Amino acid sequence: MKEKLLQFKKRALADLEKIKNEEGLQDFEVKYFGRKGEYNAIVKELPKLEPVDKKDMGRLANEIKLEIEERVNKTKRELEAKKLESIVNDEWIDKTIPGDKPELGHLHLTTQAIKEISNIFSRIGFQMRSYREVEWDWYAFESLNMPKSHPARDEWETFFVDLPQGKKGKVVLTPHTSSGQAREMELGKLPIRMTNISKCYRRQSDISHVPMFHQFEGLFIDKNLSISHLKGVLDYFARSFFGPDRVTRLRPFHFMFTEPSFEVDISCDVCKGTGKLEGSDKCRLCKEGWLELGGAGMVHPNVLKAGDVDSNEYNGFAFGWGVERTFMMKEGTKLDDIRILYKNDLRFLEQF
Ligand code: DAH
Repeated sequence: MKEKLLQFKKRALADLEKIKNEEGLQDFEVKYFGRKGEYNAIVKELPKLEPVDKKDMGRLANEIKLEIEERVNKTKRELEAKKLESIVNDEWIDKTIPGDKPELGHLHLTTQAIKEISNIFSRIGFQMRSYREVEWDWYAFESLNMPKSHPARDEWETFFVDLPQGKKGKVVLTPHTSSGQAREMELGKLPIRMTNISKCYRRQSDISHVPMFHQFEGLFIDKNLSISHLKGVLDYFARSFFGPDRVTRLRPFHFMFTEPSFEVDISCDVCKGTGKLEGSDKCRLCKEGWLELGGAGMVHPNVLKAGDVDSNEYNGFAFGWGVERTFMMKEGTKLDDIRILYKNDLRFLEQF
């Protein structure tokens, strides 16, 4: 029995030396001290011994067990320390290395221009709106004094949507932001001072047109408004957006929804409104000192009627033009093809 126990101890300690990880240790414990392990197998023989030997052998078995257990605990601690050490080595981070800076983007040029334009108008009390891009024919044309068969509609190169007609006609992609006029009047709150900035769609694409673009529309309805109010607002915008020495001019024109109607020009920054460069050369940028900006006029009584506004008591003015075009005319942008705005070429976009 004694011999068996000593052999057991010798083998167990030798095995323990070879253990490299926690799994090995678990196997070891099962093999030597598990329910069906070697230790139990030996100890089971104890009752068969003479009482004198039984006592001695019992003590020896116990001592051996304790000794091995102590060694097992020591191995456990060593394995734990090794594991921690490898975590520290593998997962070590050098906190002094500079981090990766996230790339900072910026708003698209059109969005920048929209923000700037709406800020300028909000300073003189115009509320910012963004009416629908998909609209009924009635809002896009009829409410603006353009009956169904009127040739003035042709100019808008409209995208009609292939959907069933409603009470307000066909469905169209808004060809201009003027369709927001009747929408605003429908709210029934007077006076009105709003800018509607949204996307517009027309069947056109060349160096100065894109099929999807943005317009802003100003609408001011109150009592006793006049063309000089309109001119004052336009000049204020030109000075704020383009620079303090820029002015606007109203050129008689025709729109169905305004009477009288004008095209709005802004003084050219290159020749300072003279149309000539030094040495009497013609200015390359403009026609005779002026650049065309957009349209404007006093709101036609039929338009007020469509919006349920009493044209005997109220009148108003409206103006509208393209955001992209306005941005391109800004000093320093020097863009000669509007389509580049939507090509998503970062080499271009990042310059602004
Ligand atoms: N809606 C016109 C266009 O898209 C621009 C315009 C002209 C708007 C005259 C107006 C206006 O409000 O009074 O070409």
